[in-house]
Amino acid sequence: MKKLAAGNWKMNGSAAALAEVQALLAAHPDPACEMLLCPPATLLAQMNWAARGSVLKLGGQDCHTAASGAHTGDISADMLKEAGATYVILGHSERRADHGESDALVLAKAQAAIATGLVAVVCLGETEAQRDAGETLAVIGAQLDGSVPRDASAAQLVIAYEPVWAIGTGRTPTIAQIAEVHNFLRARLTAHIGAEAANTRLLYGGSVKPSNAAEIFAVADVDGALVGGASLKAPDFGAIVSAL
Ligand code: G3H
Repeated sequence: MKKLAAGNWKMNGSAAALAEVQALLAAHPDPACEMLLCPPATLLAQMNWAARGSVLKLGGQDCHTAASGAHTGDISADMLKEAGATYVILGHSERRADHGESDALVLAKAQAAIATGLVAVVCLGETEAQRDAGETLAVIGAQLDGSVPRDASAAQLVIAYEPVWAIGTGRTPTIAQIAEVHNFLRARLTAHIGAEAANTRLLYGGSVKPSNAAEIFAVADVDGALVGGASLKAPDFGAIVSAL
C-alpha cells in the first residue's frame, strides 16, 4: 500500500500560507508516499487551485452527517468534495472534546463521507489518565468498534491513532507503545472488515516532527502520519514526507 503523510492545519493558516503549499510541491513534486493537506475549509478551494495538476491531495477536518439543510456553521461532505477534498478527518480528539462528538456521531459522519466518495480518516486515541490506568487498548478498541464503518474498504478508510497527551505537546509514546497499539488496531480492524484491514492505512499522530519521523515510520503497521504543527511549514512537512 502507498503510505500517507497527512497534514492537519487545524484552525491555522491564511491565504498567505498557500506559499507553503507551493514550496512543498516545488521540493516534493513526486514523493514516494501520498501527500495530503487538510486546511481550514475556507482555504480548501484556494489550496485546490494552488495545487492544481500536482500530486497533493486535499481534505476537510470535519463534515456533517447530512448532505445539506438547516445546520448553521456546518459543512457537508459534498461541499468539501466540491471544494477539492478527497479526504476528511473525522472524530479528531479536539472535536470529540470541544464538540462532544460521540463514537456514534463519528460513525455516522464516516458513513456520510464514504457515501459521498471521500476517504474517511477516523481518529482514535487515549487520554493520559486512561493510559496511566492501563486502559489504552480498551479505550481504543471501543472507539474503533463504535466509530469505524464495518462495510468500509481499504480505499475508503484511514485510521489515525493519536494519543491525546501526545498532541501538540512534544511528547510521544515509546516505539514499543506505538507498535503495540498499531498491532492491536490491525487485528481489531480485521475482525470488523476482514482482509481489507491488511491494506487499510493506520496513521500515527501526535508530535510527529522531522527528528522522530523515520523512527516512527519504521514501526510495523505504521502506514503514515497525521501531522499537526509540523505540517504548517513546508520544510518540516517535506522532511516528514521524505522519511516515509
Ligand atoms: O491531527 C494532528 C494531530 O492532532 C497531531 O498534532 O502534530 O501538532 O501534535 P501535532
